[in-house]
Amino acid sequence: MTTIEQMAGVPSAAELDALANAWFPDLTENVYGFSQEEASEPAVPEVNMGDLNQGYGGDTTDPYFRSVEEASAPEANFSSAGSDVPVVDNGSSKGYAPVVISQTEAAESGRKIDAPTSLGGDSTPRATTDDKPYTSRDESIRIGSKTLAQIRSDFPILNERINGNKLVWLDNGATTQRPKAVIDRLSYYFEHENSNVHRGAHTLAARSTDAYENARDIVRDFIGAPSSEEIVFVRGTTEAINLVANAYVKPRLKPGDEIIVSILEHHANIVPWQLVAQETGAVIKVIPCDESGQLILHEYEKLFTERTKFVSVTHVSNVLGTVTPIEELIAIAHRHGVRILIDGAQSVAHIPVNVSALDADFFVFSGHKVFAPTGIGVVYGKKELLEAARPYHGGGNMIADVTFERTIYNPIPNKFEAGTGSIADAVGRGRRLPICPR
Ligand SMILES: Cc1ncc(COP(=O)(O)O)c(C=O)c1O
Repeated sequence: MTTIEQMAGVPSAAELDALANAWFPDLTENVYGFSQEEASEPAVPEVNMGDLNQGYGGDTTDPYFRSVEEASAPEANFSSAGSDVPVVDNGSSKGYAPVVISQTEAAESGRKIDAPTSLGGDSTPRATTDDKPYTSRDESIRIGSKTLAQIRSDFPILNERINGNKLVWLDNGATTQRPKAVIDRLSYYFEHENSNVHRGAHTLAARSTDAYENARDIVRDFIGAPSSEEIVFVRGTTEAINLVANAYVKPRLKPGDEIIVSILEHHANIVPWQLVAQETGAVIKVIPCDESGQLILHEYEKLFTERTKFVSVTHVSNVLGTVTPIEELIAIAHRHGVRILIDGAQSVAHIPVNVSALDADFFVFSGHKVFAPTGIGVVYGKKELLEAARPYHGGGNMIADVTFERTIYNPIPNKFEAGTGSIADAVGRGRRLPICPR
């Protein structure tokens, strides 16, 4: 079986060099501080796209992702969940009644867990001497309006030496490094503004509340949302999708209802739907892709039935880098009267997004992939949908009034921001967004 995780294997040094050649034609020699021979990366696994179109990795024995038929078969059924879910098979597509279980349950059931433990990166230390000189390239070369040296100096961590080599950071898909502007903004917050928000009548409470709400306005501008009320701060994309799945979608699901995701999704856009499907008896249908990694739109269209309740798809795949046609994906979902979430974790740093023009119902992303701190992310949701959703977490910031008899919660967005949030990170994120690369 070829898993999606294998497909995310780290590119070879030769492929990275080819990319460096394409992007920075003058910067091609020894960009990593070690030669290609020294690098000798593991080969990228071969991928049979035909397998992927059969479902998740094409392996229907995977205990985490079995077909409805298999989940319903008594001998395969090591968890009762999903066993009475009707089979959904409209000829071109299968629905899945997923089972999400603990490792202990899987072990007790005697099932082999084919769970990947790594994305295939090479953790072998590089053979370098401690003082290997940085084989210099011309740092005066201009990239956009700045020189390479200026761009590097924006990021203090790039002064680090790893095994004697100057740091070159290419892992932005996992997380970006923080520019000095963000680090300085965080320090300023803690030195001059630190307080809880929305709670105190003193000067620092006013400062921190202003800074926090200003960050919300900056995010609204960044993604073209009509109103700051529609911007909810969360920890990141994962929490954002869980929030929408639990607060908006789950209360609307009945057994046999259907949720559509695509074959290109990050786990964060699979497992929350599996969990709500398991709890409600809903099924998950998967949009396939073709051999070049593009979603097949006519197959997507065929997945819709009168039981389809929600669509959740990525804008840019973290696996293949595919940019999905979200305009069409949204339009098709709306034509069928179905709401849609766009996972923008990998797109917002590279593609201008205007949620109003797109008519996205929900759009989510993480700060740390756009130079902001970790621990802060965003749910954009249309006002009427956020208002119709139930609270996700209870307590703190989300309440207007509490007695033992009843609680009145705040209007959006505070309704979804229970407890003390990542205030400084939101403020730090706000500082960076206006200058993130477009
Ligand atoms: C497409 C996509 N969605 C969701 C996530 C999860 O983001 P986070 O870990 O910031 O919650 C990632 C992270 O790599 C991603 O690439």
